[in-house]
Amino acid sequence: MIGIISAMPEEMQSLLDNLQVSKTINKGKRTYYQGQLFNNDVVIVFSRWGKVAASATVTQLLNSFAISEVFFSGVAGALQKSLKIGDLVIGTTLIQYDMDASPLYPDMEIPLLSKTSFETSTTSKLEKATQDFLADFSKYFNLKTRKEFKLKNPKYHKGLVVSGDQFVNSKNKIRKILKKVPDALCVEMEGAAVAQVCYEYEIPFQIIRVISDNANDNSHIDFPYFANEVAGKYILGILKKYLD
Ligand code: ADE
Repeated sequence: MIGIISAMPEEMQSLLDNLQVSKTINKGKRTYYQGQLFNNDVVIVFSRWGKVAASATVTQLLNSFAISEVFFSGVAGALQKSLKIGDLVIGTTLIQYDMDASPLYPDMEIPLLSKTSFETSTTSKLEKATQDFLADFSKYFNLKTRKEFKLKNPKYHKGLVVSGDQFVNSKNKIRKILKKVPDALCVEMEGAAVAQVCYEYEIPFQIIRVISDNANDNSHIDFPYFANEVAGKYILGILKKYLD
């Protein structure tokens, strides 16, 4: 069974609309929806924002269901100029950039785990699903929506995703993060926490993020609107190709 997590309900409403629900469980202020999505057994849950919320959710998910892989999707802020709004990032490595137990442990190392970064188990299957989705992009978004959100030939990137408990909305915050992790592609608030829990439970983990903002002064504008109108549809389109 595949566990599918997003941090915001707006990001997963389209998935829930396509789920044939067999059972729902409420635990710890989260609802876990079990059922069939494109003929695959899945459990879908939205975690809420931040590393603690995401860790609590994935831990409950792994303890309540026979989960064989975890898939996280949602939005992220770009940290590199090469990433545009509407681009996708397939995470290959995740770091909790705000973990700092120095001088007892090196900056960003997770105490007692001897690890700073977590590798995902991303397969070529996810990359292929993403490529196929992007090739069909104009079928998912009409011209009006593409114009409204300035979505022009979106691309996908693979690499480092960093997570921390802050919404990044200034050049200064970006500079501080890139000083620690110069090659980080994008920033969000959950992925590396879920990656740590999956590592500890030995469950394969994959993540894909849609760039919703440039992590600058405008990053909060219409953020849930983008998640609902754009990111949710990306996630549905990619997962349909991945699961079919
Ligand atoms: N998720 C989407 N945009 C973000 C940002 N600017 N900072 C943190 N998390 C985000």
